[in-house]
Amino acid sequence: MKIISGIQPSGKLHIGNYLGAIKNWIKLQNDSENECAFFVADYHSITEEFDPKEKPKEILDLATSLLALGLDPEKSIIFQQSQVPGHADLAWIFDTLVKIPELERMTQFKDKAAAQKENINMGLFGYPVLMAADILIHKADAVPVGEDQTQHLELTRDIARRFNNNFGPTFPEPKSLLTETPRIMSLVDPSKKMSKSGGEKSYIALFDSPEIIKEKIKSAVSDTGGGKDKRIGGDNLLAIFDAFAETKEEKNEYSNYKREHADGKLKYSEFKPRLAELIANHFADFRNRYAELSENPDQVKKILDSGAKKASAIAEKTLREAKQKIGLII
Ligand code: ADP
Ligand code: TRP
Repeated sequence: MKIISGIQPSGKLHIGNYLGAIKNWIKLQNDSENECAFFVADYHSITEEFDPKEKPKEILDLATSLLALGLDPEKSIIFQQSQVPGHADLAWIFDTLVKIPELERMTQFKDKAAAQKENINMGLFGYPVLMAADILIHKADAVPVGEDQTQHLELTRDIARRFNNNFGPTFPEPKSLLTETPRIMSLVDPSKKMSKSGGEKSYIALFDSPEIIKEKIKSAVSDTGGGKDKRIGGDNLLAIFDAFAETKEEKNEYSNYKREHADGKLKYSEFKPRLAELIANHFADFRNRYAELSENPDQVKKILDSGAKKASAIAEKTLREAKQKIGLII
């Protein structure tokens, strides 16, 4: 399968990003049947407030983190979106195939527009169209993302279908690939998804120290809510435990905690520190590898440069084909 996915360089990576998307990227890359490309979506990230002085660091940090988590330039094309000409051109072409009300219906647009009322810019509005271009320029079959991105994938398929109907078969209709944990919930308000925008205490960042993780899990909302949502905090913590349980013993531990939770007997004073420990241990290697890699930013930049060359060759070919199909090549 041809696989592509991207992530924005803004804010800190958290366990929602990891369990919903990046973990799957690494798994897919390690299957030699797949051709994978992963990128830092810097063009998408400038649709929100940002500091131009911080942006280069955010891009480099994200690329370094992805490498530290196990993305391998020998197996995957790893690149920075804005270094590859073609994405924005194809997005312009796709703009002419999308109706304004379709974009107005996008949940992420509505949420972000409500959060940045003074800056509802064209880029934010056209965000899903650029995303469709990112995906289709690689003619990808599948896109590993969290559940919040599935609406964008539906639009991507609509765009592909419309282009094919109007101008002849060109693009595949890519599907989303979800993990078993496609939607990790916020630690402070488990009715919302875990997100950078929910505040420090709502998420566990991959860089959080074991002490901070312990504190955040300790104060996480568990089964204290009311009504039918009473257990969603506890369910979320259990799902996180399950996702990080690797050994047979850890899986057994999980089954026991799950049973206790179902019976209303889970002792959070025991479960929570154990969950914190499991998460902290999982990212111990990551923290070490990140520290090593960040000593040598030039190496990371080189990987991105070489990824951009490979991605550009693919993008150029698809863009030319699309232009030819719509009659722009004389
Ligand atoms: P954030 O919402 O924190 O800004 P991004 O929009 O940068 O996260 O998401 C990057 C990737 O991580 C996407 O594939 C997205 O679907 C996934 N993702 C983000 N938050 C979660 C979550 N809480 N649970 C599962 N996947 C998530
Ligand atoms: N919109 C995605 C997010 O918010 C990031 C993204 C941009 C993306 N282009 C993409 C994901 C193409 C998958 C494929 O997380």
